[in-house]
Amino acid sequence: MRVGIIGGTGDIGEGIAMRLSRITDVCVGSRDLSKAQGTCDACLMSAKECGVNCSVKAGTNQEVVEQSDLIILAIPFKHLKTTVESITGWEGKIVVSPVNPMERRESFVYTPPPEGSAALYLQKILPPTTRICTAFNNIAGNRWCDITTELEYSVPVCGDDQEAKQIVMSLVDRISSLKGYDAGPLSSSHIVESITPLLLNIARFNKMKDVGIRFV
Ligand SMILES: NC(=O)c1ccc[n+]([C@@H]2O[C@H](COP(=O)([O-])OP(=O)(O)OC[C@H]3O[C@@H](n4cnc5c(N)ncnc54)[C@H](OP(=O)(O)O)[C@@H]3O)[C@@H](O)[C@H]2O)c1
Repeated sequence: MRVGIIGGTGDIGEGIAMRLSRITDVCVGSRDLSKAQGTCDACLMSAKECGVNCSVKAGTNQEVVEQSDLIILAIPFKHLKTTVESITGWEGKIVVSPVNPMERRESFVYTPPPEGSAALYLQKILPPTTRICTAFNNIAGNRWCDITTELEYSVPVCGDDQEAKQIVMSLVDRISSLKGYDAGPLSSSHIVESITPLLLNIARFNKMKDVGIRFV
């Protein structure tokens, strides 16, 4: 299975690319092909240093969608619409949203769109056959990038397509020590997305770093 990462050059995108390219084929997407190639070079160098295999290639965001079975949208909420609408070929693809609409005020605040969540907003702007799942919303970019750190987190996965949700949870379970959990339908995504500003507030007010969640 090839996993494409739109925004594979960003804070979580590059870290996800590093981790995933060691276990499956990855296509890193960007609006700027040379930036995507830079992330691929970083993945290849890191894998070489660790003596492990790595399968990664660069592409435009359009190529990522064309060439991948599962696409992670690792971009800020405010750029979702222009990015999604600039690309064709979403039909039938599994699309994973780690997107958390939020703002930093005196504390971090969840700011969903009128649809209720970033995931439901995506459902509105993507073709109806796209198989959308929410996942990876609550893991800090720093943790993804620190490849020597074991990721001992729980990953809630929301979605309406059971097969797609199983595929996403199986992928999650192959990354470090992550464990995927079925968190219900896509309409429950607001619960998962809103955990992230909570985690950031806990980190900020308790002088902690990269706080995550684990279900026991
Ligand atoms: N950062 C975290 O710790 C974290 C944790 C959990 C979830 N998330 C979620 O993951 C998503 C990505 O977060 P991030 O912090 O990784 O974002 P980011 O680093 O700020 O941006 C990610 C990528 O978005 C693309 N981008 C930037 N401006 C754009 C524009 N005007 N139009 C289209 N694409 C643009 C860029 O890719 P190119 O320039 O290569 O096209 C950039 O590398 C967000 O929705 C966030 O809520 C983040």
